[in-house]
Amino acid sequence: MNTSLWVVTLFYILCLLMCLDEITSKNISTDEDALLALKAHITNDPQNLLASNWSKDTSVCDWIGITCGTRHRRVRGIRLRNMSLTGTIPPDVGNLSFLVNFSLFGNHFHGSLPDQLANLRRLKWLALGFNLFDGIIPSWIGSFTQLQYLDLYSNKFGGMIPISVCNLSKLNHLYLGINNLVGEIPKAIGNLQNLKILSLTNNKLSGGVPNGIFHISSLQVIDISDNWLSGSIPTTTLFRNMSSLRVLDFHSRL
Ligand SMILES: *[C@@H]1O[C@H](CO)[C@@H](O)[C@H](O)[C@H]1NC(C)=O
Ligand SMILES: *[C@@H]1O[C@H](CO)[C@@H](O)[C@H](O)[C@H]1NC(C)=O
Ligand SMILES: *[C@@H]1O[C@H](CO)[C@@H](O)[C@H](O)[C@H]1NC(C)=O
Ligand SMILES: *[C@@H]1O[C@H](CO)[C@@H](O)[C@H](O)[C@H]1NC(C)=O
Ligand SMILES: *[C@@H]1O[C@H](CO)[C@@H](O)[C@H](O)[C@H]1NC(C)=O
Ligand SMILES: *[C@@H]1O[C@H](CO)[C@@H](O)[C@H](O)[C@H]1NC(C)=O
Repeated sequence: MNTSLWVVTLFYILCLLMCLDEITSKNISTDEDALLALKAHITNDPQNLLASNWSKDTSVCDWIGITCGTRHRRVRGIRLRNMSLTGTIPPDVGNLSFLVNFSLFGNHFHGSLPDQLANLRRLKWLALGFNLFDGIIPSWIGSFTQLQYLDLYSNKFGGMIPISVCNLSKLNHLYLGINNLVGEIPKAIGNLQNLKILSLTNNKLSGGVPNGIFHISSLQVIDISDNWLSGSIPTTTLFRNMSSLRVLDFHSRL
């Protein structure tokens, strides 16, 4: 092969590597399809916020509640808070490969979280609190290595807290309160060394309180009240390690 051919080949290899992300993660049409699928799964929108606004005639980046990246022009944020929407999340939402922020906080969304959401590897912020979601908290949630904020507060999630949640090393807010969670608080919860807020209130959690919790020095709020927990609190460790703590609620429903 001559030199110019090598240069051309090298150029193609470089481009392939650099563009791979864009190639494999589709394009803005994929994002539009995914959001239109979400719209189609919204069965009640009393304020008519999406009906005409989420239209194929305008770019998804101009749709209400949607933000796009400046570099990629791909959907990075969905923010549909307190809009009285009723509906379910279709699997298509898992195609939004650039999604960073996903908030449906304070609506009437129901059903379970489709497994396809496991593809949202860039998520930093997942706020589904104050809805009617049910099913389990899927273990794939532990694969969102960038996740900082996880709010599933006040839903109908059942089953156990997946151990994989303890792998979310960047997590600083964890709201799982007011659900139907059973079983024990995972021992490895002490791995969450950046956690500031831990809310597990109002579930059916049982067993002891893992000691690791009292070694998370960043914790400001621990609310594990209204569960079926037992055992004791290591007060000496608590006051030595936890200088940021503002709220400690262990009050029991028993
Ligand atoms: C997106 O990709 C599809 C093929 O996968 C192509 O048909 C479409 O024109 C592309 N859209 C944009 C806006 O690039
Ligand atoms: C949709 O809503 C956004 C935000 O309120 C607004 O900027 C945009 O002009 C609206 N688009 C249409 C087509 O109504
Ligand atoms: C994500 O949400 C946070 C907090 O609301 C905000 O500071 C950030 O700018 C948002 N980013 C995107 C890409 O929407
Ligand atoms: C959403 O509604 C809740 C409860 O009504 C309220 O506490 C909260 O401040 C609202 N949030 C926003 C962003 O409007
Ligand atoms: C998006 O997701 C749906 C359901 O998971 C799937 O059927 C579809 O082929 C996916 N891909 C694109 C490019 O829309
Ligand atoms: C958590 O991380 C450990 C090591 O970092 C890994 O071996 C394990 O498979 C992960 N667990 C889950 C449930 O993701």
